[in-house]
Amino acid sequence: MAKAKATIFFCKECGYESAKWMGQCPGCHEWNTFVEAPSQKAGASGSRSGSAGGGLGGRTAAGRFLAVTEARPKKLSEIEAAGEVRTSTGMEELDRVLGGGLVSGSLVLVGGDPGIGKSTLLLQVCRNLAGEGHRVLYISGEESLRQIRLRADRLGEFLGELSFLCETNLDLISEVIVREKPEAVVIDSIQTMYREDAGSAPGSVGQVRESTQTLLRLAKENNITIFLVGHVTKEGTMAGPRMLEHMVDTVLYFEGERNVPYRILRGVKNRFGSTNEIGVFEMCGNGLSEVANPSEYMLSGKPEGACGSVTACSMEGTRPVLLEIQALVCRTNFGMPRRTAAGTDYNRVNLLVAVMEKRAGIHLSDCDVYVNIAGGIRVNEPSLDLGIVMALASSHRDVPVDDKMMVFGEVGLSGEVRAVSMAEKRVQEAAKLGFTTCVLPCVCLSRLSIPPRDIKLIGVRNVREAMELIGR
Ligand code: TYD
Ligand code: MG
Repeated sequence: MAKAKATIFFCKECGYESAKWMGQCPGCHEWNTFVEAPSQKAGASGSRSGSAGGGLGGRTAAGRFLAVTEARPKKLSEIEAAGEVRTSTGMEELDRVLGGGLVSGSLVLVGGDPGIGKSTLLLQVCRNLAGEGHRVLYISGEESLRQIRLRADRLGEFLGELSFLCETNLDLISEVIVREKPEAVVIDSIQTMYREDAGSAPGSVGQVRESTQTLLRLAKENNITIFLVGHVTKEGTMAGPRMLEHMVDTVLYFEGERNVPYRILRGVKNRFGSTNEIGVFEMCGNGLSEVANPSEYMLSGKPEGACGSVTACSMEGTRPVLLEIQALVCRTNFGMPRRTAAGTDYNRVNLLVAVMEKRAGIHLSDCDVYVNIAGGIRVNEPSLDLGIVMALASSHRDVPVDDKMMVFGEVGLSGEVRAVSMAEKRVQEAAKLGFTTCVLPCVCLSRLSIPPRDIKLIGVRNVREAMELIGR
C-alpha cells in the first residue's frame, strides 16, 4: 500500500515549521498563517528519487547542498573572507541599495505591485551585465518571448550574451541553468514557477517555498546570482513575499504610485550591506532612468508661498532627502472630524494633532486634518514631526511658511522638540539646495560641529517656539 505523503506545516509569514497545523504561530504570533507543504525529507528520499529522470538538477543539487562534509567548528580567523567581488549592475542607484554591487551566488528578491516596473528594471540590469561581458539568462513565466522583445526594443540596444527562456517548470529550468552556467539569472516571477513533485498549484505557498529552495541551492552551488521577482499580493492564494524574505539574501522593494513616474527601490533585508538605502528611478518612455538627486526631484512642483506647505528632511539610509509636507486644515462639516494621512503614519499625525492642542494651544478638534507627503513617497521617520506640526499650523492660521526654510525634529508628547540623528547631513543638504533657513532642535544646533555659513540656523526647544516662527 502506498505510504501517505509526508507533509509539514509552516507559517507563511515567518517560515516557522511544525509537524501539525496550529491556529496561532508560536514564532510570529499571527493567526491562521499555517499552510501545508510536502516535507523536505519526504521530498528528498521519497518522491524525488521515485521520479526517474525528472528533477535531476534539483536532486543532485539537494544532495550536495545538504551533505555535511565535516562538522568541525571554525574560528573566525580560519574562515576565508577575502576576495568578495562585487559586480556593478551598471546602475548606481541599484548598486548602492545592494551595498556596493552584486555579490555572486546571492539570491535577490525584487518585490512590488504589478506594473510598477520590476520586469523593466531587471531587463535593464540584464542588458548592463551582458554589455559588460557577463553571461545572463532571463527566464520569464509571465511574458512571451515576443513581449520581451517588444519591451527590449523600447529600452534600446542589447549587446553581449543575454539569452531568454519562457518556462515555468523549475525542473527544466534547473537543468538549463546547470548546463548553461550563466553568471546571473532572472526569474520573473517566482509565483509562476512550479515543481512537479511539490504537489500543489503554481503560486501556492508550498510551491513558492519549494521553488525558492531549489533556486537557493542552484545559486549557492553554482555561484550564480539569481534575481527573483515576487508579487506583493493581498491575502489570497498567492504567497506573499513575506515568507520568501526569510529564505533569500537580499530583499528589495520597488515602490511608487502607478500614476506618478518615479519609483523607489528600497532595501529591506541585505546580508551583504546596510538596509534602508533607497534608489530613486523615474519611469520614462525608454525604461527606467536613475534620479541622482532625489531632493531636487521631490521638491519639483512645490507651490510658492502656499499655506500648509513645509519642506522637511528624511534620511533614507545614508542619504538626506528633502521632501514637501502638505497639510490642509479646514472646519469640519461632521460631528466627527476627519483625519487623513497619505505617505506617513496616520497614528503619528493624530498624536501630533493632540500635542498641538495640549501644548501649543492650537485647537483642531473641530477641524478636518489632511496630511500628505507630496510625490507619493512613504516616510515614517520621526524627524518629520516638526515639519508636520508646522505645516498644520501654517494651514490652520492661513499663513505661509518661508519657501526657503527647511524643518526637521522629533516632537515628544510634552511638546518638546527632540534631537534626531545626522543633523549635519540634513543641514548640508538644505544648504546645497539653496535653502536659507533651517529650523532644527536646539540640542542638534549645539552639537553641530561646523555650522554652514550660508544658511541661517534656528534652534527650537518646543512646539510653542516653532509656532512663533509662523506669523502671528
Ligand atoms: P513592468 O516592468 O512590466 O512591471 P512589473 O514587471 O512590475 O509588473 O512595467 C510595466 C509598466 O511600465 C507599464 O505600465 C508600462 C511602463 N513602462 C514605461 O512607462 N516605459 C517603458 O519604457 C517600459 C518598458 C514600461
Ligand atoms: Mg513583470
